[in-house]
Amino acid sequence: MKKAEKSFTVNGRGHLAIGGVDTLELAGQFGTPLYVFDEEAIRRTCRRYREALGRSYGEGGLALYASKAFSCKEIYRIVGSEGLGADVVSAGELYTALEAGFVAAKIYYHGNNKTDDELLFAMEKGVGAIVVDNLPELRRLAKLRQRMDRDQDVLLRIKPGIDAHTHNYIRTGQIDSKFGFALETGEALEAVRETLGTEGVRLRGLHCHIGSQIFDTQPFVDAARVMARFMGEIRRSCGATLTTLNLGGGFGVQYIEGDDPVPFEETLAEVAVALRETCKEEGIPQPFVLVEPGRSIVNSACATLYTVGARKEIPGVRTYVSVDGGMTDNPRYALYQAQYEAVVANRAGEERNEHVTLAGKCCESGDLLGEDMPLQHCDSGDILAVLCTGAYNFSMASGYNRIRRPAVVMVKDGLARLVVRRETLEDIVRCDI
Ligand code: LLP
Repeated sequence: MKKAEKSFTVNGRGHLAIGGVDTLELAGQFGTPLYVFDEEAIRRTCRRYREALGRSYGEGGLALYASKAFSCKEIYRIVGSEGLGADVVSAGELYTALEAGFVAAKIYYHGNNKTDDELLFAMEKGVGAIVVDNLPELRRLAKLRQRMDRDQDVLLRIKPGIDAHTHNYIRTGQIDSKFGFALETGEALEAVRETLGTEGVRLRGLHCHIGSQIFDTQPFVDAARVMARFMGEIRRSCGATLTTLNLGGGFGVQYIEGDDPVPFEETLAEVAVALRETCKEEGIPQPFVLVEPGRSIVNSACATLYTVGARKEIPGVRTYVSVDGGMTDNPRYALYQAQYEAVVANRAGEERNEHVTLAGKCCESGDLLGEDMPLQHCDSGDILAVLCTGAYNFSMASGYNRIRRPAVVMVKDGLARLVVRRETLEDIVRCDI
């Protein structure tokens, strides 16, 4: 096991341990499937973000945890206690954060299609800012704001014209996105003008997000420059000095050997240099800088434990190993052919000398966790761990086939505690009339 070495180790019994706790004991105590997070690893990464931003901006920068990656009360408590803010994208995420006692002023509310109810809820609770995506939303927001006794801070979501989702990323185009205002068509400047002229709404700054699981620094640097230049243009043509720049998330992580993302510290340092230079060239003051990492905070801190069930060797074709979860707790292979590393937890010290297709238990052929995955030999009853599943697994879990959502545990200081209990059969019919 190469990646996330600090969280995943092989203990003296040859078992996989997470945060020093034997996964077989965890499976025995809490059942499977089970998401297991190493709390200390999450906290370490939060501190790395704080330190990296502190080095570049002093008090003038803040990381917001993009909670779409993994949202439950406990994660808001953890990242909040490490001094981070949060990015939420629905009433559900906002409610969860508030229920966990998260400071509303450090929450940024996103979304390309917020409902009136969501806008009102966010304003009533006093979120730090609403990130406005389109003009009809701005107009609805202004109207709803009249029911409040204070102005609402907003950022505008801008498409900076950078598509970082390709190997050779594209700097122009990317108008074809459902998110935000396009720069190159003049739409963004128009939106700035209208926002500045809208009563009750205070335009604090801009936001962009260029994609997710980005391994290189350059797209981030280019986005920062584009945004700072636009802030200069706003100052020249509208006379407004914006004070906040949110550069979004997207910092890549390692899932399998061969994934080689640039450490986010390096990217953030280069972004800071580019930003300082561009602000100087544009004659604008350095804005307060926000970043919104999601995946990079939680992904490598977690593994999902399963119990192996049926094993089917189809001669000359492949070997299927089925587990007691699947696309309902991790839809990322089915959706994106995302690659994961798996380990037989009770043989973690042994060589992975087989190649198998890991299947889930849904009534669907595409319900796979991976194909041609190197794995130790395993049979029914063995515990299998899929590594680096902290981001966009639990948060994207579904109730397909009325399969119950797994429990989530945190391990810390050698102890495990339940933070989300397993769904029960009663939960399955809770909303049914
Ligand atoms: N900020 C905004 C506005 C975003 O849309 C996102 C992710 C983030 C921050 C956090 O990005 P991160 O640091 O996690 O890359 N379901 C997909 C990922 C979708 C990401 C959506 N937006 C997956 O499983 O790969």
